[in-house]
Amino acid sequence: MLKLDIKTSSNYTVTIDNSLNSFNEAVMPIIAGKKIAVICDENAKKLHIKGLKKALKGQNCYFITVKSGENSKSSKNYISLVEKLASLSFTRSDCVITFGGGVVGDLGALVASTYLRGITLVAMPTTLLSAVDSSVGGKTAINLKQGKNLLGTFYQPKAVYINTEYLQTLPNRELLSGYGEIIKYAFIDASVNYYDVKYGNYETLIYKCLKIKNAVVSKDEKEGGLRKILNLGHTFGHAIESLSSYSISHGECVVKGIKLAIELSKSLYNLDAQKVEEMYNLLTVKGHNLDVDFKMEDVIKQIYNDKKRQKNSISFIAVKDIGKVEIENILIENLTF
Ligand code: GLY
Repeated sequence: MLKLDIKTSSNYTVTIDNSLNSFNEAVMPIIAGKKIAVICDENAKKLHIKGLKKALKGQNCYFITVKSGENSKSSKNYISLVEKLASLSFTRSDCVITFGGGVVGDLGALVASTYLRGITLVAMPTTLLSAVDSSVGGKTAINLKQGKNLLGTFYQPKAVYINTEYLQTLPNRELLSGYGEIIKYAFIDASVNYYDVKYGNYETLIYKCLKIKNAVVSKDEKEGGLRKILNLGHTFGHAIESLSSYSISHGECVVKGIKLAIELSKSLYNLDAQKVEEMYNLLTVKGHNLDVDFKMEDVIKQIYNDKKRQKNSISFIAVKDIGKVEIENILIENLTF
């Protein structure tokens, strides 16, 4: 079992275990005696709810299921969830546990952060993507028809509990999505390298990525500056994700986005061919498909809906080297190569 303390405006601990054995010690003191809304996705419910119910035995729990898939991060689901808490008379001393992947994590965290102006939140990610990135750092969001994550808050959970046993049941596409974010961390900080990504076990990989994330969010929780580096691959990635109507997973789009960021970085920094080859080796170490099946002009058009846009420019994360990225303020029309 590994533990990592996250230092933000409110500190909390991420527990990474290969079972629910540490749940009592890590989570129970935070939730005991409260009304608990467990917001879970269909997949997590089908595969893992039995074990969680056992761990929560004796607590006053309500299990609420949300359909799997990005389309669930909708204003309709958001309103229906907060109204559900209201109809169950949840008070400020009650809590939400999110149990599922990034979709349920982002949606449920937005519910917890806004219902009665904020109630206790515990995150239990069940996918590699949510374990390695989205469950930590306090970003909550739903999508609007104009683009991804356009409505959200910063709100830190009181605890994150990662049971890596859940990752054993993930389909390959879901693993590729998680590895997309892991590869992103390897480009941001060389403490995760090619061999870690290729051979590393989940516990260590998740710990190492979250350590990088903590080093960033502890200095810049609300993305005033440094935290923008965690958006590597996301400017192009989110645009591709929206254009694909979310049929390509988030992490796969991030990898495609890093590929385009490398192409742009080649002209920005005159990167040498051997360096670029090393970058491509890292990008494809887990077999990601780098093809972008949309016209660049459509991708650029979509970027005008990015929440990080300021007038006609964007803070673009460029790649100088593996483990070294730069924030460049670039006119959106110039995001071509
Ligand atoms: N997923 C990027 C961030 O949390 O800032």
